[in-house]
Amino acid sequence: MTDIERIDQLREELHFHNYRYYVLNAPVISDQEFDRLMRELQDLEARYPEHYDENSPSVRVGSDLNKEFRQVEHNYPMLSLGNTYSQEEVTEFYNRVSKSLGEDFEICCEMKFDGTSISLTYENGKLVRAVTRGDGVRGDDVTENVKTIRSIPLVLHGNGYPSSFEIRGEILMPWTVFEELNKERERKEEPLFANPRNAASGTLKSQNSAVVASRKLDAYLYYLLGENLPHDGHFENLQEASRWGFKVSDIMRKVKTLQEVFDFINYWDKERKNLPVATDGIVLKVNSQRQQRNLGYTAKSPRWAIAYKFQAEKALTRLLKVTYQVGRTGAITPVANLEPVQLSGTIVKRASLHNADIIASMDLHIGDNVYVEKGGEIIPKITGVDVASRPTGSPRVVFITECPECGSPLVRYEDEAAHYCTNDVACPPQIKGKIEHFISRRAMNIEGLGPETVDLFYQDGLIHDVADLYSLRMDDICRLERMGKKSAENILKGIERSLSIPYERVLFALGIRFVGETVAKKVARAFPDIDKLKKATLDELIHVDEIGEKIAASILRYFANPKNEELVERLRNAGVQLKLSATSLGKQTDRLAGLSILISGVFAHHSRDEYKALIELHGGKNVGSISKKTSFILAGENMGPSKLEKATKLDIPLVNEEEFLQRIGESIPAAD
Ligand code: IVH
Repeated sequence: MTDIERIDQLREELHFHNYRYYVLNAPVISDQEFDRLMRELQDLEARYPEHYDENSPSVRVGSDLNKEFRQVEHNYPMLSLGNTYSQEEVTEFYNRVSKSLGEDFEICCEMKFDGTSISLTYENGKLVRAVTRGDGVRGDDVTENVKTIRSIPLVLHGNGYPSSFEIRGEILMPWTVFEELNKERERKEEPLFANPRNAASGTLKSQNSAVVASRKLDAYLYYLLGENLPHDGHFENLQEASRWGFKVSDIMRKVKTLQEVFDFINYWDKERKNLPVATDGIVLKVNSQRQQRNLGYTAKSPRWAIAYKFQAEKALTRLLKVTYQVGRTGAITPVANLEPVQLSGTIVKRASLHNADIIASMDLHIGDNVYVEKGGEIIPKITGVDVASRPTGSPRVVFITECPECGSPLVRYEDEAAHYCTNDVACPPQIKGKIEHFISRRAMNIEGLGPETVDLFYQDGLIHDVADLYSLRMDDICRLERMGKKSAENILKGIERSLSIPYERVLFALGIRFVGETVAKKVARAFPDIDKLKKATLDELIHVDEIGEKIAASILRYFANPKNEELVERLRNAGVQLKLSATSLGKQTDRLAGLSILISGVFAHHSRDEYKALIELHGGKNVGSISKKTSFILAGENMGPSKLEKATKLDIPLVNEEEFLQRIGESIPAAD
């Protein structure tokens, strides 16, 4: 078999395995085997760029290219559905349809998925375009991002599909992925997504399709449009679509009577809690397209369909008091303490009040009867106050001005909604939070130590900051209650081992605001020694890829504090790694210092990510789009025509792979 034949074979096999895994949920090979096939395909594709296929399964892996979305007009406008909230309105809809049609009809009952809608166009069995709803008439072309969603087929199966058609559906982030993502964002101190819908639409609009690929989005398709659909029935067409490889929900029933509609609604109102994705109602559609055409449309929505929205679960309870939590960064979160109330199967005693503005906007008073809701969000929230039942003379909630833990005055930074306690060296929850972060697995990974032990050591006065960990002694620990010799030994061993944790992770472990793992890596490469970083200016910092003013200012603020400077010195004396190790330093040069380089096309010797790393290792900066300031383009095969045109226009030199490798003094890997 020639390499080209093997490429075709691998593409076909991987399309098939994608379908088995992501649509049918029934894989026939292991994940490792899948990865192996994918890598084989990627390697072959890199060697034969002329055999590029824009719908190859390898595009699922995403690319790092930055793009702005192109706006395109929908072939058929994307309308929304009329909403109803009561069973009476459902009855009215049913009677209206019945009267207008004057004949028997069937209703297709489906879940209303709570994500972000998408319209996909297929031509000759291939995905050619994916467009968001936008304003209904025009939307954003997000094809490249959508291609990374594994349950959306790039190439269709079987036959019988029209040569050109559109299929619409909902892009969703499953609950488990959403919870994982928010945990990760919390760790990185990035703002949390309020619900899976926001997370899905935020992800879909990401400028970086590799990010989209990593976020594990899913999609259900629920509406086919086109000239030559196989059947008159909407339900039947969707069953057909599922045979072409689309993920169509199993939860679809064709019914005739109003009673059957209510049975469906009542059943799924409860059962939906067990579904892997968020839903917010039921959609009812007249099944026959002929009848749909007869019923027609109003200006905004079809007359042949309606959405019944589930009630967000809501309860009325009393606000007992407002307490304030202090986070590791000093951010103050006001918390409503409530008279316990049953909501969505759990007892709610507390709800977040977010910030001072929200409290003020509700004019909250202690003793108020408040509405608590738990909709798509995981944390219950207060959505309103029953002012009429407010007890007379009840005090208004006034936001605190001093830290509830250490008494320091609170500050509010410009453009931020939160208040902060700035006493980061002596405020107990901040100190404990910082130590917990420092010892965590992805930071210094000190095994044997956990939040309870940190609390114990802190209460006992053994540790006040992270550097104190390195002066802990056996007998200090052993004399504490609940601390045996064995655990003490483990803790000390864990601390000792942390001395070999590389500099970039130490930087992350310090807990400098906005310096998450990725930023820490970039900073460590650009400033391979903490003394260099300490001296860095704002200008030098923002010159580093992905470091903006906010991060740069936070780094400057950290080192401007003499207490932090002292802490770093104590860590240095303890033997903590504060510079890049000799091995990685050895390879580092400044051959590309000051140069802004754009990567484009397909490469033979290294992956795109490896080239990115090489550029940074040699002091250059990766950029995502061409401008006058671009120093050169590292150009592989198949560079996009619009990039080429722009480069020529701005007179930006192209450097090929071999020239680039010579320039940084790397040998060209031998061809195999
Ligand atoms: S059908 C013309 N079916 O709800 C009707 N929509 O307000 C086309 N949605 O924008 C839509 N689940 O994003 C349809 N099973 C379902 C749906 C569904 C969720 C969303 C969709 C649409 C909105 C309607």
